[in-house]
Amino acid sequence: MVSCSRTVSPSSSSSSLQALVLLAAVSFFSSHVAAAGHPNYADALAKSILFFQGQRSGRLPPDQAVKWRSNSGLSDGSAANVDLTGGYYDGGDNVKFGFPMAFTTTMLSWGILEHGGRMQSRGVLTEARAAARWAADYLLKAATRTSGVLYVGVGDPDADHRCWERPEDMETPRTVYSVSASSPGSDVAAETAAALAAASLAFRAADRAYSARLLASARDVFEFAVGHQGKYSDHVGGDVGAYYASYSGYQDELLWGSTWLLWATKNSSYLDYLTSLGDVSDGVDMFSWDNKLAGARVLLSRRVLVSGDRRLDAFRRQAEDFMCRILPGSPSSTTQYTPGGLMYKSGHANLQYVTSASFLLATLAKYMAVANHTFSCENPLGMSYMVGYGARFPERIHHRGASMPSVAAHPARIGCQEGFSGYFNAGGANPNVHTGAVVGGPDNHDAFPDERGDYDRSEPTTYTNAALVGCLAYLAGIYKS
Ligand SMILES: *[C@@H]1O[C@H](CO)[C@@H](O)[C@H](O)[C@H]1NC(C)=O
Ligand SMILES: *[C@@H]1O[C@H](CO)[C@@H](O)[C@H](O)[C@H]1NC(C)=O
Repeated sequence: MVSCSRTVSPSSSSSSLQALVLLAAVSFFSSHVAAAGHPNYADALAKSILFFQGQRSGRLPPDQAVKWRSNSGLSDGSAANVDLTGGYYDGGDNVKFGFPMAFTTTMLSWGILEHGGRMQSRGVLTEARAAARWAADYLLKAATRTSGVLYVGVGDPDADHRCWERPEDMETPRTVYSVSASSPGSDVAAETAAALAAASLAFRAADRAYSARLLASARDVFEFAVGHQGKYSDHVGGDVGAYYASYSGYQDELLWGSTWLLWATKNSSYLDYLTSLGDVSDGVDMFSWDNKLAGARVLLSRRVLVSGDRRLDAFRRQAEDFMCRILPGSPSSTTQYTPGGLMYKSGHANLQYVTSASFLLATLAKYMAVANHTFSCENPLGMSYMVGYGARFPERIHHRGASMPSVAAHPARIGCQEGFSGYFNAGGANPNVHTGAVVGGPDNHDAFPDERGDYDRSEPTTYTNAALVGCLAYLAGIYKS
């Protein structure tokens, strides 16, 4: 497309992606702007990790820095004669929900994997690893499948929500919830596999033995997720599934889990599996504990952009489609922004969508930088609207001379009505390429049928080109080839 309004150069695209990440994040850190004129990200980073100490369940270690918390849930698991102490309370309550806890673990691990290199200062990386390990330790216990079950929750959520008490004082039933071959939960199992695989990668250099245990468990749980399919909310007792049901189904978790296992094991059986899942729903514009499609697609883009595996290019395109759905100003955006500029997806815990989308933006931008790759949300048809310019351009412009043979090719006169029947209404490309003609262009949905009769979109005019000449001179002067 010839456009004087915006020229996207290869390097500006990924940096503008990064700028948008900052924009999204700045919205909620904006009251704390450091002297340099940008938010104090290092301070926010350290605090974002410290938060997890306040969510801890189980016996707290001597180096626990959040002092207003003490031991809690020390007999968690006893209702099923297993040890399920530890892990995290999911939010403001005292329930341990396995499904969001696994997603939490996956995301902490992915953050360490991709961006841990920037956490080196002041022991932040150590703290981030401790936060991930607190959850991974719990998931290892939950996923011990010697008894053929995966534990997916501790604490009756309804009873818990009828109380407002500190975790240290809990007296509500610490009911244990699980899935098994006869009451499966592919969503929670595949997410748990993703979490264990991601954690195994995050700990591979720091603790090889631990990493190997995590990976072995991840393989097992994934096999269970695939071998016994179902939604856990259909099977677990109590209201556990009602609090965190996988509304998106479990195909997304199967894709996500196999993607993580592919990275962690390099075993091509996971590649075969994930490509066999086929085209799992499109048009995704959210990434959360429920729907992991966008995350899986960005992670698969890593293989395309960083490892050069073009077989997965369709996933890269889907990842870019997601970005075009969330970026402000993108023609295919399906995302609302508040008047203050904050991405707005839901009235319930909206910032979860902001943090998860920002993570994907930052991470895809990193992959793009490695591959020197860019993409544009503009011009979805990927065509030029100047005839003769670019690889694809209009072929049936609404233009008398161009649509009929030249006098040299057809010396006989063509009469008034003859032109309609012989040429205007004929299919096929115009015989004369009217090089440089800029047509009316696509409609408000980016559609361009390239039909001769469609004068709104297919007719060139002198006044379109006249204004373009000076504009192109300006750009050609700046961007010399
Ligand atoms: C790859 O994974 C499959 C399925 O889990 C397994 O059967 C196979 O043995 C694995 N191959 C290798 C080389 O580890
Ligand atoms: C990335 O692309 C730009 C523009 O095409 C080029 O100037 C630059 O050398 C490329 N960098 C790498 C590392 O390939």
